Amino acid sequence: MESTTATQTQTATSDANVKTTGSGNGASAATRAIAAPAPAPPLPPSAPLRSGALPQTFYNPTRVIWGEGCAAQVGPHAAKLGAKKVLVLSDPGVVRAGIPKSVVESITSAGLEAEVYSEVEPDPRIEIVEKALEHYRSGGFDVIVAVGGGSAMDTAKAAAILATNPSPLRQYEGWEKFANEPAPLFALPTTVGTASEVTPFLVITDAAAKFKFTIGSPQAAPRIAFLDPLLVLGLPGNVTAATGMDALTHAIESYTSLLSTPISEGLALHAIRLLSANIRTAVANSHNVSAMNGMLVGASVAGLAFSNTRLGNVHAMAHPLGAFWKIPHGVANALMLPHVMEYNALACPVKMIEIAQSMGESLPLGVGGLTEHEAALRAPAAVRRMMADVGIPLRLRDLGVDKASIPDMAQDAMKSANIAINPRKTTINEIIGLYEKAY
Ligand SMILES: NC(=O)c1ccc[n+]([C@@H]2O[C@H](COP(=O)([O-])OP(=O)(O)OC[C@H]3O[C@@H](n4cnc5c(N)ncnc54)[C@H](O)[C@@H]3O)[C@@H](O)[C@H]2O)c1
Ligand SMILES: [Fe+2]
Repeated sequence: MESTTATQTQTATSDANVKTTGSGNGASAATRAIAAPAPAPPLPPSAPLRSGALPQTFYNPTRVIWGEGCAAQVGPHAAKLGAKKVLVLSDPGVVRAGIPKSVVESITSAGLEAEVYSEVEPDPRIEIVEKALEHYRSGGFDVIVAVGGGSAMDTAKAAAILATNPSPLRQYEGWEKFANEPAPLFALPTTVGTASEVTPFLVITDAAAKFKFTIGSPQAAPRIAFLDPLLVLGLPGNVTAATGMDALTHAIESYTSLLSTPISEGLALHAIRLLSANIRTAVANSHNVSAMNGMLVGASVAGLAFSNTRLGNVHAMAHPLGAFWKIPHGVANALMLPHVMEYNALACPVKMIEIAQSMGESLPLGVGGLTEHEAALRAPAAVRRMMADVGIPLRLRDLGVDKASIPDMAQDAMKSANIAINPRKTTINEIIGLYEKAY
């Protein structure tokens, strides 16, 4: 998702809202020790509810079905919609892995026609969406079932929108910009990151403008998400690592977003727990059903959280890295994540401490222990250890990024609506500084 102008009921991020968000805002806390009794390490106080001053909403229109073998339910659910011919939209890597087979079988067993279309590319361009749309129209399909990672799911979302709304696609950039209900869409994720299966967002690349843009609307969310761990077994370790880091970034940025709510915070923290507990095992052996299921569910739970809160500086800065340098989305997020967390720690130290604890860090707080700021910095330190363990590069220079592109990428990052809801107010010079630190 990422750079949308998604409105929430509490959209107006007034200064009053900023001040009362999270218990840890306030830079002066940087070096203050927490006065807590030793020896039992106390949990930091939870971020307070924002006194109900602003009305808040939690909304997710996608029905979620999960568990081993649940892909077999796709056909009966498509039949319930009155469908006759289903387009299974996937990508070449997913088709090579034989993953759409069980979905196709489920559809044909329900007495419907199914066809697999796999002309999807990573970070899909507008042209790829238009081709998929042409195929959908000329083939007389009436439902789209996306089987793949964020690239296949977002291509499917975009084609579903254009099936009922006029082209060009880019006119719908932003929040709730198209009028008509898209074609019916189901989604089955085969990576463990984007959560596009439950989000109202889609990210498409405008190659001519070297820009990844986001469209958002509750109507863009799939009607049903099927989380079947059997579809992610055997995911290559580097894809598990990258997409898992994307999911962790969603959870962390949602938790610290100025739009976070008590409901989203619960989901985000639980997602951090699930993802942190499973990512190493999942990367080491993607046939471990329990670990892969933890990642798949954790990624979707993070998606439910950020669908309602948007994200932050990390995603704002990751999109230009994808558009300029074709760095996979999850890797781009991971590269920026610890730097932005260190930067944000001044604004929301207590939330950072809670993130560190959810990642399994044991924090000796209190007398003789860590200051609040030191404890907060354990969260980015835990992220760095995780990146090293799962084999994610730590610096932009290792991925061929030209340092001279930083000012242009920073300009594009500032266009993201995620900048405004990052917990620490950010200027373009600070964005440049963060890219330079990650370089
Ligand atoms: N809609 C949203 O809310 C949202 C959120 C975050 C990111 N995104 C977007 O999603 C895209 C990235 O998606 P992604 O990270 O899931 O990667 P992806 O869909 O691009 O897939 C990455 C690679 O993994 C392969 N692959 C996928 N599943 C596999 C499997 N089970 N076995 C073997 N190979 C498999 C694919 O063939 C592909 O080559 C980006 O464009 C990003 O901007 C969207
Ligand atoms: Fe993401």
